[in-house]
Amino acid sequence: RLHQGEAIPEWFTFPEVVKILRERHPAQAQQGFVLFFTGLSGSGKSTLAQAVLARLLETGSRPVTVLDGDEVRRHLSKGLGFSREDRNANITRIGYVASEVVRHGGIAICAPIAPYAEARTEARDLVQAHGRFVEIHVATPLEVCEARDRKGLYAAARAGKIKGFTGIDDPYETPVAPELRIDTSEVSVAEAADWVFDWLRQEELA
Ligand code: PPS
Repeated sequence: RLHQGEAIPEWFTFPEVVKILRERHPAQAQQGFVLFFTGLSGSGKSTLAQAVLARLLETGSRPVTVLDGDEVRRHLSKGLGFSREDRNANITRIGYVASEVVRHGGIAICAPIAPYAEARTEARDLVQAHGRFVEIHVATPLEVCEARDRKGLYAAARAGKIKGFTGIDDPYETPVAPELRIDTSEVSVAEAADWVFDWLRQEELA
């Protein structure tokens, strides 16, 4: 075992060198964290995520990476569908990228539906190896999401044109102990973003 600051012998392999350097120079001078918004389609995840992003950018001190549902599926998760297996793979990938951001002291904002508890737990575990995981359940009731139906997807799901739609014929497993739970049918987006931001301040993350 080497002492802190002791020269690394040249016969060490690169993986060994990397491990030592990572231990000597932890990136998190400031702790990184993930805001993981989860909820039904149309629950307001992306809108709320954008409002919180705006608040974080106002404070300006740190880079923020946004891993939004639609963007992720166009790039990182291209080719994945909506089976349980594919959805879980999607969430694991998001969790992995978010954990890398956090490892470097950054902030990641994710906003997938993430309907299955097992995948949310996996993402949490990946992230918590390096920093904080803040799960925010956007708990807008199904009736409200369905009444909004901005993309017409609920109507298509009710008509049987989309199979396995979350909340209609595929489950959304309600988070049991999220750090925050917000029903966007009860508060404005600005108020909800304030709650999130106040909570982050209390936890000394913002
Ligand atoms: S998941 O379950 O977390 O992997 O889903 P996500 O990557 O967030 O993608 C959700 C968006 O995909 C559209 N869509 C569906 N949603 C739910 N169930 C089914 N079967 C489905 N098929 C397509 C839908 O527009 C979701 O968008 P949002 O932004 O959540 O409304």
